Amino acid sequence: MSSEEKYEVTYFPHGRRDFFPTGTTAMAAAEKLGVDISTVCGGKGTCGKCKVRIDEGYETLGPIKPGETKHLTKDMIEQHYRLACLIKVKNAPLKIYVPDISRVGKQRLQTEGLEVPVTPKPMVRKYFVKLPVPTLHDMRADEERILDALGDQYGLDRNRLRIDYDEIVKKYLPIKLREANWEVTAVVWGDKVMAVEAGNTSDRCYGFACDIGSTKLAGFLMDLNHGKVVAVGSRMNPQIPMGEDVLSRISFTLFGGEEAQDKLQKAVVGGINEIIDECCEKAGVKTDEIYEMTYVGNVAMQMFFLKYWPKHVAYSPYPPVVRRGVYVPTTRLGLKGHPHSNAYYLPVFGGFVGADQLACIMATQMLERDEITMDLDIGTNTEIAVGNKDLVTCDSCASGPAFEGMEIKYGIRASTGAIEKVTIDPSSLELHYRTIEDAPAVGICGSALIDIPAELLKSGLIDNKGKFVEKMTKETNRLRKSKEGMWEYVIAWSQESATGIDIPITQGDLRELQKAKAAMHTGAELMLKYRGLTEKDLDKFWLAGAFGNYIDPENARTIGMYPELPTEKYVFVGNAAGTGARMALISTEMREYAEEISRKVVYYELAVAKEFQDEYAKSNYIPHQDFNKYPLTKDLLYRLGRIDEKNKWIYPE
Ligand code: FES
Repeated sequence: MSSEEKYEVTYFPHGRRDFFPTGTTAMAAAEKLGVDISTVCGGKGTCGKCKVRIDEGYETLGPIKPGETKHLTKDMIEQHYRLACLIKVKNAPLKIYVPDISRVGKQRLQTEGLEVPVTPKPMVRKYFVKLPVPTLHDMRADEERILDALGDQYGLDRNRLRIDYDEIVKKYLPIKLREANWEVTAVVWGDKVMAVEAGNTSDRCYGFACDIGSTKLAGFLMDLNHGKVVAVGSRMNPQIPMGEDVLSRISFTLFGGEEAQDKLQKAVVGGINEIIDECCEKAGVKTDEIYEMTYVGNVAMQMFFLKYWPKHVAYSPYPPVVRRGVYVPTTRLGLKGHPHSNAYYLPVFGGFVGADQLACIMATQMLERDEITMDLDIGTNTEIAVGNKDLVTCDSCASGPAFEGMEIKYGIRASTGAIEKVTIDPSSLELHYRTIEDAPAVGICGSALIDIPAELLKSGLIDNKGKFVEKMTKETNRLRKSKEGMWEYVIAWSQESATGIDIPITQGDLRELQKAKAAMHTGAELMLKYRGLTEKDLDKFWLAGAFGNYIDPENARTIGMYPELPTEKYVFVGNAAGTGARMALISTEMREYAEEISRKVVYYELAVAKEFQDEYAKSNYIPHQDFNKYPLTKDLLYRLGRIDEKNKWIYPE
């Protein structure tokens, strides 16, 4: 195509620009230019997250499409906002402004998790050996010389040992031995000498553990000799532009075939390699000093990473392709590290319950305990496990991305300017909020999305069906009808926000939040029911996941997201999946334990449970239909005049 047929597209505030042919979508141009624009639907025009303002070339774009009117308010349309995935370059240059709300931005990513003491017993060990020089009286082969020395000097099983073929051929083993004056370090992985290094390098032996989340990646560079973390890094999962949740990424693959599958795999590996580089730089380690890696993630992440065809896990009965732990050479996956290193992906359970949940069970040691505990790993897909040493059962529920700020009109991830905490004074109905880094408000993130319905409920601004109580408009101007005719409650006024527009929570948003919390509650409730247990039987409630630590547990309990337990039973364990990945990296015993967990833990598929719909319908109420189960909330609601003395909800007149 000639340059005359291309038109300049410039993105602000990034200032990135290039020429694109007519027909290129604004989203595709952004992707090429490395401009991050939020997406949930992978560019299908259904999520509304890619709002951009057209500062030049607006008139060339044609009329607003029906998909856009659903997501753009009248004000936005007047200000020339469009959806980046639905507009195309058309015979003219474009100047496009990406507002804060549509930027992926710098995220607050949690990498810390439980610290569980594990005695290092890694799969990779280094042994320094001084080899006898060959003579006419000692004509052993180079290979035998090394293997004998490992047997004689370190008691390794001589008969099982062998040397990696590539190490002998491609790394010129005979030359290396002689140049090193027969003093070398053998790097042994299991029964294989994976590398032979000149001199004594035995104090430099590293591994890398990684939690592949649908939203974020967390990586840990570890000293395998001492079992210590030497550097930590994290990134947003670069697969996000291809779909913000696992189902959109699966459909992206099914739609785009092998090419899309390749794109997803390369994206995640690219992100991991960046973390490896960052960790190595921080710790002064060379990437080829990483001799082994461990990975955890849900079943879809396993499939994308290992390039398993993911179609069938999306359909009942949701079978994974491989359940056991898998070893793959890192070079086959495109990962940095020693060229002969291996990656071990921990076992998965089934459905969408994967190695991340297994790693949580390892980290919390649920299967070792007498007491009954439950863990909840909150994410787009929330995984739940309950039990003790006799039996642990697990399930997962599609809680959706609402608490990650998606499907919420002004929802954003936890990044600078995100409203993260909201309180409403029930007597004055005055609202206070806090943003991340105290920056002007950009949108609302997960922790505040739990506070808001709880605070609205406690203040009598919504009823237990999650509906705004319209008569309250007399008492606060924050409750109003939008131009589109939908009830909403203003959290931040335009003069306080970074975007210059009001940031409300809408009736539609509350519905999404109700659905998400109802899914989690249903998952936890059914898991208890199947086991003949109630909340009272739980001695501990482990809360894992990136945003678990930021949630106000009282508010989460008020909206019925968590089981009704005294708050002292809640234990925040942060990135427990990362903890499990590290445990498996530094200890082969932990790896065997992981395989044992995958055999012992019983997986339930909630989608087939006949009680699911009934339980889910009840869980949609705030906090729940059955108030008697929630004495603390009941007292509070009674005090606020929301229920009568018989626990019946008082509906507004
Ligand atoms: Fe454009 Fe979803 S609507 S990415």
